[in-house]
Amino acid sequence: MVMCHSPHDHLHNPKGREAMFTTKWLKLFGVFSILALVLAACGGAPATTQPTAAPAQPTTAPAPTGGGKLEIFSWWTNGGEADGLNAMFDIYKQQNPGIEIVNATVAGGAGTNAKTVLKTRLQGGQPPDSWQVHAGKELTAYVDAGQMEPLTQFFKEQGFDKVMPPKLLEQITYNGEIWSVPVNIHRSNVLWYNIKIFQENGLTPPKTIDDFFTVAEALQAKGIIPLAVGGKDKFETPHLFESVLLAVFGPDDYAKLFQPGADWSDPRVRQAAEIAKRMLEYSNSDRSSLGWADAAQLVLDGKAAMTIMGDWAHGYFISKGAKVGVDYGYAAAPGNDGVFMWLSDSFGLAKGAPNPEQAKAWLALCGSREGQDAFNPKKGSIPARTDANVSLYDEYLQYSIKAFGSEKLAPSVVHGAAAPEAYMTEYGNALNVFASDLDVDAVVEALQDAAKDLK
Ligand code: GAL
Repeated sequence: MVMCHSPHDHLHNPKGREAMFTTKWLKLFGVFSILALVLAACGGAPATTQPTAAPAQPTTAPAPTGGGKLEIFSWWTNGGEADGLNAMFDIYKQQNPGIEIVNATVAGGAGTNAKTVLKTRLQGGQPPDSWQVHAGKELTAYVDAGQMEPLTQFFKEQGFDKVMPPKLLEQITYNGEIWSVPVNIHRSNVLWYNIKIFQENGLTPPKTIDDFFTVAEALQAKGIIPLAVGGKDKFETPHLFESVLLAVFGPDDYAKLFQPGADWSDPRVRQAAEIAKRMLEYSNSDRSSLGWADAAQLVLDGKAAMTIMGDWAHGYFISKGAKVGVDYGYAAAPGNDGVFMWLSDSFGLAKGAPNPEQAKAWLALCGSREGQDAFNPKKGSIPARTDANVSLYDEYLQYSIKAFGSEKLAPSVVHGAAAPEAYMTEYGNALNVFASDLDVDAVVEALQDAAKDLK
């Protein structure tokens, strides 16, 4: 299926489109520096309180009374993601008056910094009440370390098991228990592009890797940066590379790459590294000093034509007042057409949480329809629940809801779905060295080494 859209092609049949989305969705699946960071995280500014509309569908969790605190730990500091989080905090405050929310954030895309701070806190016996964790293999490390409480019973009491796709439930189940409450589903393999640049230059967003290089060459000849890439948060090149691996291997063989015993001596690994090298050669030279949102901003400002990023970039664009289909367009990353690379943000309950009742009220909100419908339209993600009010979601998100139900799925490695944290770190390190030296031999060797640790 083609995921590439002109600014207007959804506007012709809005009614049919809505009905189609709704039906499809309903059918779905039956030490000092660290200390400084820790202090920064603990001292994060509390969320702003703004009155919100009366809850459409109140959660059933008991509202804690008598004041108290709730500390929520995440890396959502950029436009879009911070707005989504604040929207949920607003509802929480309304439902739980008198509870002070400590918004403990550590900036840095994909949680590269936040996870380090969190680790230190958990090892030091100072957990936040609840923290952001990707559904999938990423959460297994916290479970193995005995740092999370099982949530199986809570999940069932809340009825969440009835309204989330089985595929997602699998991702949060480990050793026979459910461990976290998913709040969304993100797509990681999206090409975002500046519509005006493409129109003015008579170009079409690239569907294949070959198309990408043709378009990139044409843009470069016009003095336009073809591809905006960040690097500051050490996940951006690893992120780009997972979409290239998917393009080269296809979804079935891509998924096998992260299974124990995976064969990284396959010549397609080198082919992917060569493609990624060429892509980076068409990108901005100041990659290492830009975050993912800075790269997205280059596209919005018309300084670069494209960026390959998860759909939190959509949340970022919305937060800047930009309009999808007017200021920016979207397509599957080159060679990724018809495959939805997915991940899910979720929240768990800390073992030894200082405020377990407040935390449970938070988790109830995270899994509720009301919470998800407030959070996701701002975050740029689709709801983890299958019964969301689709009319609250914009053109891109309605498209994404449909795509999640109809396209092939592939798990993101960089965002915790495909492989455990220890492997992700090694994969990330290999690609961050590559981001600066572009040494294909070295990265292939490093990736082969990393694969020995797939568990
Ligand atoms: C991902 C996370 C998203 C978004 C992104 C950029 O790992 O799942 O919600 O925060 O990082 O930071």
